[in-house]
Amino acid sequence: MRKPLVMGNWKLNGSKNMAKSLVAGLRNELSNNTACNVAIAPPVVYLDFVKHQLDGSNIILGAQDVGVNLSGAYTGEISIEMLKDVGVTHVIIGHSERRTYHKESDEFVAKKFGVIKEAGLVPVLCIGETEAENEAGQTQAICARQIDAVIKALGIQAFNGAVIAYEPVWAIGTGKSATPAQAQAVHKFIRDHIAKQDEKVAQQVIIQYGGSVNDKNAAELFTQPDIDGALVGGASLKADAFAAIVKAAEQAKK
Ligand code: 13P
Repeated sequence: MRKPLVMGNWKLNGSKNMAKSLVAGLRNELSNNTACNVAIAPPVVYLDFVKHQLDGSNIILGAQDVGVNLSGAYTGEISIEMLKDVGVTHVIIGHSERRTYHKESDEFVAKKFGVIKEAGLVPVLCIGETEAENEAGQTQAICARQIDAVIKALGIQAFNGAVIAYEPVWAIGTGKSATPAQAQAVHKFIRDHIAKQDEKVAQQVIIQYGGSVNDKNAAELFTQPDIDGALVGGASLKADAFAAIVKAAEQAKK
């Protein structure tokens, strides 16, 4: 049985004050949570601060991205060892916002995947098609291509203990979530695609759904057999909404 992971991606939002009250709110609402793994990914400058706010809690600390180099003359970059040093265990990579605004290629994202695995941390690989690709019937091809870049660079075993977040680009921040059936179909395709190379790896890999998940639509999404939690943007900035999504996952996956 896979333990679901609900992860909040704060993106470019927050302040020390906001982080303090949001974490306090989550700790309050999620005291005895065990049936679902919960993670939050604040902006990198607040990671150390949030780690202290999380002291004694089982909420996991995540990062939104990582550089591919370990040290040296790379102004502005953050290394995986730095993230590890401040207590990060899960690292989001390949988010569509980075693929689009920073022109990150599949190969570059695969390199980040390798750096994270090498450091013993958990990559959260975001994949998903744009609206145009969806309308052109390319959803499966795009997801397969983004996954295959990692398999080609690192082998199928790299997905052992890893997380994939299926985030259709057209559903991100639009209020237009994929329907549970739509998402399930793609999640099943992803798991089957991995199973073609290794059934065991496919059965344990966590596949989150992301894209306009909120406290109203989460429960039905989580009833789908291949949806193992969610990567949440906007709704992760409110403690009550995010906690409700976590509780929906716990309930559905009991
Ligand atoms: P929203 O939940 O705001 O649609 O964002 C999803 C997302 O991009 C999470 O990484």
